[in-house]
Amino acid sequence: MPLFDRKPVPHDEVVSGSDAATRALSVTAVENDFVEGVYDKLATVYDLVFGPTLHPGRLRAIQRMNIQPGERVLEVGVGTGINLPLYPKLCSVTGIDFSGSMLEKARERAARKDIRNMRLLQMDAADLKFADDSFDIVYAPYLISVVPDPVRVAQEMRRVCRRGGRIIILNHFLSPSRQLSRLERLISPFTIHVGFKSDLDLPAFLAQAELHPVSIEKVNVPRLWSLVTCVKD
Ligand SMILES: C[S@@+](CC[C@H](N)C(=O)[O-])C[C@H]1O[C@@H](n2cnc3c(N)ncnc32)[C@H](O)[C@@H]1O
Repeated sequence: MPLFDRKPVPHDEVVSGSDAATRALSVTAVENDFVEGVYDKLATVYDLVFGPTLHPGRLRAIQRMNIQPGERVLEVGVGTGINLPLYPKLCSVTGIDFSGSMLEKARERAARKDIRNMRLLQMDAADLKFADDSFDIVYAPYLISVVPDPVRVAQEMRRVCRRGGRIIILNHFLSPSRQLSRLERLISPFTIHVGFKSDLDLPAFLAQAELHPVSIEKVNVPRLWSLVTCVKD
């Protein structure tokens, strides 16, 4: 079955509540400097802590992307480059991240694994230094709940993606379960110290970023993360 000819997920299914377009995305506010500091510290242990546990989602995302030879992929928040070995050799990959320590790990990995179809650049996801329509696929794995302004980042991802290209977001979002979501809101000011806000509101994020997914799949074990696939119209 072709992956990208599905009808968009109906609006009602993803935007629960009429205030989604205006409500706060998270109880936790962060600044770039703080996040950069967190990831500079995490760089040496990142693969150990967030490697295997979050890997099923990464594998599913690559499958979902259905990357064709020659396609240009942008990974936003490339981190230690844990996804680099997963991309097919016949595409070209650009990885950006603002943490010098995480990028250093990515460069080491690329050299160790002899990965040549990629370039790594230090950049803020909220201010991408690429022209409009530069990529066929723009992918943010485990990034969107880390950044100060997820909507701005999504707008930048959309801008640099070509018309008809895929915008893929892999992330943990606030649970629809009332009990779990209360807990996620409660712990969010603490989870940001290990690199993510646990309470990013997916329907509000999609509404504010004006993203219309063609699919949303639950991934990882437990299935608390979402793989959100959009096509730029
Ligand atoms: C949770 S890690 C994800 C790493 C990798 N993509 C993965 O699959 O595990 C988030 C990464 O996003 C980077 N990051 C956070 N905010 C950023 C921003 N505003 N611009 C660029 N990179 C950012 C962090 O430095 C970190 O390397």
